[in-house]
Amino acid sequence: MISIVNPTTRPPRCFALLPCAGSGSRAGTAVPKQYQPVAGVPMVRHTLAAFAAVPRIARVLVVVAPGDEVLAADASVSIAACGGVTRAESVFNGLATLRAQGARDGDWVLVHDAARCLVTPAQIDALIDACLPDAVGGLLALPLPDTLKAEHGGRAAATIDRDHKWLAQTPQMFRLGLLHGALAERAATGFAGITDEASAVEAAGLQPLLVRGSARNIKVTYPEDFALAEAVLSAARPPEGAKAPLGGSAACEAAERGGTLGSREK
Ligand code: CTP
Ligand code: MG
Repeated sequence: MISIVNPTTRPPRCFALLPCAGSGSRAGTAVPKQYQPVAGVPMVRHTLAAFAAVPRIARVLVVVAPGDEVLAADASVSIAACGGVTRAESVFNGLATLRAQGARDGDWVLVHDAARCLVTPAQIDALIDACLPDAVGGLLALPLPDTLKAEHGGRAAATIDRDHKWLAQTPQMFRLGLLHGALAERAATGFAGITDEASAVEAAGLQPLLVRGSARNIKVTYPEDFALAEAVLSAARPPEGAKAPLGGSAACEAAERGGTLGSREK
């Protein structure tokens, strides 16, 4: 039984969890795509900079693959080397780490792909504003802009009605206890069919809020996506901005003073 009620009496905090343990097989890069330089720094640095600019995020935890040392030398980044075989498993393990470090079931977690490096602080804030008063939580998403085709043998076999169809993005924001419970129910099947947090919450019988995002918030997936990301970041966010101290907000520092969440896992 999954509870959607905040079991704590203290105000819930907002944590961010960045799954960063994939190999980027479709990107064709020599290093996992999240570490591929974009506008002068590894892609994940841009993602981290966006979250660092949102004061309501108490802490950001990056889930990397076991043995991944790329971010290990940077004391300003919290890392959990508990990445799994699938994205869902990486998230599930990261939630357990947040819990072990003192996060509560009633706290909110914003799960965000490390590979969505074009997300903006304003988009993150918009999701928080929309979800904080909501009983379930929700996700950034975009109404499908194009005509949708069903393919058969490389040909368009049918046109699918696009009414009420949205493209799911991240961040996706849910209470830690709700999301952990929803994913736990799918763990025995290897998280089959769970491609984002919302799909796990939907499988638990709940309907996440769709919060309109932006076409800018792409997931860098294919080789050509890097040039697009580079162009957007070079125009809108100079590389120097991406090198700003990460996770240094007052809220984050307060959270670190307040409990074991300040401890760093390698
Ligand atoms: N991810 C993860 N653990 C996995 C798989 C993916 O933490 N086992 C992360 C990726 O690092 C990425 C995000 O989930 O930040 C979204 O996944 P995706 O874009 O599919 O990245 P990859 O799985 O690395 O790429 P590909 O599917 O092309 O191999
Ligand atoms: Mg993948």
